[in-house]
Amino acid sequence: MKALVLAGGRGTRLRPLTNTSAKQLVPVANKPVIFYGLEAIRAAGITDVGIIVGDTGDEVRAAIGDGGRFGIRVTYIPQEAPLGLAHCVLIARDFLGDDDFVMYLGDNFLVGGIQELVSAFRAGDYSAQILLTPVDDPGSYGVAELGRSGQIVGLAEKPDDPASDLAIVGVYMFTAAVHDAVRAIRPSARGELEITDALQWLIDHGHHVHSHLITGYWKDTGRVRDMLECNRIVLESIETSIGGSVDDRTEVTGRVVIEPGAVVEGSVLRGPVVVGADTKIVGSYLGPFTSIGAGCVVEDAEIEYSIVMSDSTVRGVSRIEASLIGRGVEVTPARKAPNTHQLVIGDHSTVRLRG
Ligand code: G1P
Repeated sequence: MKALVLAGGRGTRLRPLTNTSAKQLVPVANKPVIFYGLEAIRAAGITDVGIIVGDTGDEVRAAIGDGGRFGIRVTYIPQEAPLGLAHCVLIARDFLGDDDFVMYLGDNFLVGGIQELVSAFRAGDYSAQILLTPVDDPGSYGVAELGRSGQIVGLAEKPDDPASDLAIVGVYMFTAAVHDAVRAIRPSARGELEITDALQWLIDHGHHVHSHLITGYWKDTGRVRDMLECNRIVLESIETSIGGSVDDRTEVTGRVVIEPGAVVEGSVLRGPVVVGADTKIVGSYLGPFTSIGAGCVVEDAEIEYSIVMSDSTVRGVSRIEASLIGRGVEVTPARKAPNTHQLVIGDHSTVRLRG
């Protein structure tokens, strides 16, 4: 069995971070979200992994390399434009051959791994297996309608009027039958070859597409609030580990990870919190569910329920919360008089000021 991991796409909902960086590399508890998927694939015993890359391919390649550190062998497959998930299968034909494969969307986060799901698929006699989970906003996803005995009656991609609240999770299992499907379908209204249409094609042509309801935590990290939630979930399960230095004027409660080279002085850390390597936290408050990346400076500041990526500075500002701060960012106070805000912000940014 092989795996096909999708790391292309434009990540428009995570702008401006994705103007300069791949959405699959946004860190969750200081680790790129795609790494969790690669680890889950390896834990399921799969070592032959194709990764579809787009405009951000260089950065994805630099982060993952040949896959050796994950115990996998990576083949990169460039996609010239984000033409849909089924298009990814189409261009991966040579890599996939006639093998069964798991397709894993690089921005999806699934707690509990895929080992049992892969075993169930191997044991079953299906052409494809999809995972479903109830969500509040099914119209943002592929949606499945199930019949009385749980069989899939119909599938629709981001429907205006969803037939159920069951979203299709971004982890799919296929046999080689899917190759006929992706060749047969036509682009959707949004101009993409939809995997949802390929699955519907399989059903319409008498194939058995099995659905599996998952109860564990799942997030598509396409939006800022999903990233922060995902970060919270991962931080919920960290164990304390102090690799850097924490002085005796610092008050620590709950579980914290202080990576090597980090220095914490005269601060309050309310875990769960992760502080990245070589970061300096001085006279500050870090509240629960906060990840500070490597090489940052946080001084005389308060941050809660947030992600700060590497090499950023936050100095002299009161409580920042529910925020996603990119790399090499500087957040400092403006002049006191006149009482103004002074902003240099990239395209498609979101800034909420206190008024
Ligand atoms: C894709 C699929 C959708 C699925 C979702 C899961 O949507 O098209 O069916 O529910 O992933 O993350 P996208 O995130 O590409 O818009």
